[in-house]
Amino acid sequence: MSKSLDLVRLSNKDLLCTSALPLADIEQIYATATLLKNGRTEHTAILQHKRLAMIFEKDSLRTRFTFDIGMQDLGGSAVFMDHRDARIGSRESVKDIAKNLERWVHGIVVRTYKHKALEELAQQARIPVINGLSDFVHPCQGLTDFFTLTEKWGTVRGKTLCYVGDGNNTCHSLIHTAAKLGANIRICSPEGYEPNSRVVSGAMRVALESGSEIQILNNPDQASEGADAIYTDVWASMGQEDEIEERNGIFAAYQVDADMMRRANKNALFMHCLPAHRGWEVTQEVLDGPQSIVYDIAENRLHVQKAILALLMH
Ligand code: CP
Ligand code: NVA
Repeated sequence: MSKSLDLVRLSNKDLLCTSALPLADIEQIYATATLLKNGRTEHTAILQHKRLAMIFEKDSLRTRFTFDIGMQDLGGSAVFMDHRDARIGSRESVKDIAKNLERWVHGIVVRTYKHKALEELAQQARIPVINGLSDFVHPCQGLTDFFTLTEKWGTVRGKTLCYVGDGNNTCHSLIHTAAKLGANIRICSPEGYEPNSRVVSGAMRVALESGSEIQILNNPDQASEGADAIYTDVWASMGQEDEIEERNGIFAAYQVDADMMRRANKNALFMHCLPAHRGWEVTQEVLDGPQSIVYDIAENRLHVQKAILALLMH
């Protein structure tokens, strides 16, 4: 028997960005995720008769499957809307979408191009809205990444994660989460592709309290030296397809390969949110190598998101 679940609601109605999540909420998500992971077949009624709407403007494998399966594991169900051809707010206003959905379902997961639309939806809807990736952040990913590292290391406090690549949505959520948890983070991007400066300055303020050290660098050799984990993501995110060729040239020196892994700490972990472009941001050898934990992270998306659903919707 696993420990019984003590579900206290998170501080906010929605989960849009980790920067708005108090440390105590992150700790509660992680504790709940661990219990749900260890007793996967035991907590099947937490969201009985609850329904989740999933509106995705972009492709997805992991986020779509894990939220859907997560709802089923907890006794509820999910309804998916493939929004590939129409953006949120184009057929009808964001307000009307919110006011309709709240009459039928108990929560909404949104994958969108515009973070602002997500904020407006959350403001208009009386039910929880969860960010399944926006142009700005990918909070469920960052939370899962550090949950997985906590499983591997016991604690992330004082450990160093080096993110090599584009200062994108995934990168922003890693910075937010690291700063809250007291992990050190080095971001290494080509000039002009660094993370949003407001994300960095905000995280640096949080870091004053948590003890996290945040560095923004341009040299991959310097950044990877002695790191405990190396992380990368695609060089062109969804919506930037027309920049792929240009970016492939600019980012070529930022590929994670066996040499970079050797510069990091012995037994350093390799991380990627996936999908990966094998042979571009990471070599096949590293992605499939013994230090790679990419599928452990993908598995944990399910457990962490089940915790988020349970804590927001029970
Ligand atoms: N990492 C991640 O969010 O994967 P999907 O784009 O497949 O959902
Ligand atoms: N940065 C990537 C993450 C995909 C999970 C994108 O936005 O396409």
